[in-house]
Amino acid sequence: MRETSDAIVVIEGSRERENLPTVIVDDPQDLAGLLADRIVETIEREVSAKGRCVLGLATGSTPVGVYRELIRRYEAGEVDFSQVVTFNLDEYYPMSPYSIHSYRLYMMENLFAHINLDPRNIHIPDGSVPRKKLEAHCQAYEDAIREAGGIDFQILGIGRSGHIGFNEPGSSPDSRTRLITLDTITRRDAASDFFGEDNVPLEAITMGIASIVDARKVALIATGEHKAPIVRRAVEGEVSPDVSATYLQHHRNATVYLDLAAAAELTRIKTPWVLEPVEWTPGMTEDAVVWLAEETGKAILKLTARDYRENHLSPLLNKYPNAGEINGEVFIRLRDKIQGRAKLPRGQKVLVFSPHPDDDVISMGGILRKLRENDNEIIVAYMTSGNIAVFDHDVQRHLDFVARAAPALELDQTKVRGLRRDIDEGFNTKQPGDVDSERVQSLKRYIRESEAVSAIAAVGLPRTAARFLNMPFYRTGEVRKRPIGEEDVKIVTELLHDCRPDLIFVAGDLSDPHGTHRLCRAAIDQALERYEGEPAIWLYRGAWEEWTLTQADVLVPLSQEELRRKILAIFKHQSQKDVAPFPGGYDDREFWQRVESRNLETAARADRLGLAEYYAMEAYRVE
Ligand code: F6R
Repeated sequence: MRETSDAIVVIEGSRERENLPTVIVDDPQDLAGLLADRIVETIEREVSAKGRCVLGLATGSTPVGVYRELIRRYEAGEVDFSQVVTFNLDEYYPMSPYSIHSYRLYMMENLFAHINLDPRNIHIPDGSVPRKKLEAHCQAYEDAIREAGGIDFQILGIGRSGHIGFNEPGSSPDSRTRLITLDTITRRDAASDFFGEDNVPLEAITMGIASIVDARKVALIATGEHKAPIVRRAVEGEVSPDVSATYLQHHRNATVYLDLAAAAELTRIKTPWVLEPVEWTPGMTEDAVVWLAEETGKAILKLTARDYRENHLSPLLNKYPNAGEINGEVFIRLRDKIQGRAKLPRGQKVLVFSPHPDDDVISMGGILRKLRENDNEIIVAYMTSGNIAVFDHDVQRHLDFVARAAPALELDQTKVRGLRRDIDEGFNTKQPGDVDSERVQSLKRYIRESEAVSAIAAVGLPRTAARFLNMPFYRTGEVRKRPIGEEDVKIVTELLHDCRPDLIFVAGDLSDPHGTHRLCRAAIDQALERYEGEPAIWLYRGAWEEWTLTQADVLVPLSQEELRRKILAIFKHQSQKDVAPFPGGYDDREFWQRVESRNLETAARADRLGLAEYYAMEAYRVE
């Protein structure tokens, strides 16, 4: 590992298997700074050399942080965009430029409206062009890039289909700006932004592979554990039309920027010992031994010297008198991570941060009950209302209850009926993606709050343990969120002062579909900087991914009954059951099904390594 002067931790290692220059940083937030540095440098150099700079821009969740950093630098007077020309990679088709789903609106909201870019210098493919004029429109786009002198610096994200721009599998290296049919994976990944997969357009206009690799410099950015498999394919795989990003391997100045989660499958991160001598820290030894056990299908304590020798691990073997010593050391390390109730904290103040109103029971339903049984004082802070993820028909069902119960609740029936009619009318005229009225937004929020309270009661917590922070950054009524602001940080800081926790739990995953977990994490980090206390921090991963046995520091075993009760608690989130509006594109299963299989799998992996045979397990990482 190397520490740069700005304290950005860049992960070093052998690049032998990498066919593209790749920069890996420990903290995803650092990528924004690194990329902004390169963009600002390019602008300064090109503007002074030729009077203007041409940038190629991407949309999606990945570059948002970079754009935010550019806005910050612009506001600080550190960069001038007046001579910058931009070309965006793509736009859905058909798509009105005014739609909330349009990439034009995305660019306005996330960058253009906040900087001094001349609107005449902005180019984005137009998704409202009639089909018969499309070819001419795409040709004109290519001409405009050429007339601007070509792209100086192109930013790219990567889709799980391996696309850059919307160049889906099968795209030719000679392709230029054109209409393309979107891949199933891409449409599924976009489903949550469009309020359902059926609303995602089937096609898009995209710059082609040739248009992208013509750029003089290219930077591909990827963050989050869900990108790790495709990143490995793009960086270490052979050039193939199956993964468009591999075409960048032919580019003379393309660099891939990754956070550790997205880099996790690269050989240099996953199994560095197969590439070069490594420093055998206890963590590295554990990684290698668990890998060896899984490669050979053996329990750790049964690994032989020959297994080590035949699998690139002679250097590790040579450090010990024999294989049994290494096996024993790693076995004990792993065994000590397993913490049943007796080893878990007791009599402490525990603060659980749950980004959405169900992340707590989804990720921590097992440990929450055990912590309660250990007489810890627990507060669960729900950071956002999660109201955008409630279907209209759920509001109608609850209103039906209120209308029927009006006499028993001594409510004014005429008033209740009138309100119900207004709300029904609103729903009838609503288009997918329309923002709900304030009243409906509140109703959706109350539905989720009542579910959350009922879920914590199901794991044995008192209803008073719930705090609803309703953080302002989330209160847009839309999928798109505001950046974290002073008010958000203040709410979290006040909560810390109020609770004075010994232990806090934080969502440590980066792959939730709308980036809400990241924003919540940023607010907590900023609040902790202002807070004088030093609570222990345990990270859980959300509904999408799980810590591996080696990444985790604490493994909490669950019996069949404990897992069943955890799942029953998840069921209390009825608005998210069966078909959740935003299950996240990476997995079709319901939340409880993902939880069940991941908790079973963690225990099964421990079992295969020869550790105790538990029914299920939750995993936590201590920061
Ligand atoms: C966006 C684009 C796409 C995205 C890619 C990753 O303009 O062309 O290639 O960069 O789908 O999307 P996110 O960043 O949302 O994971």
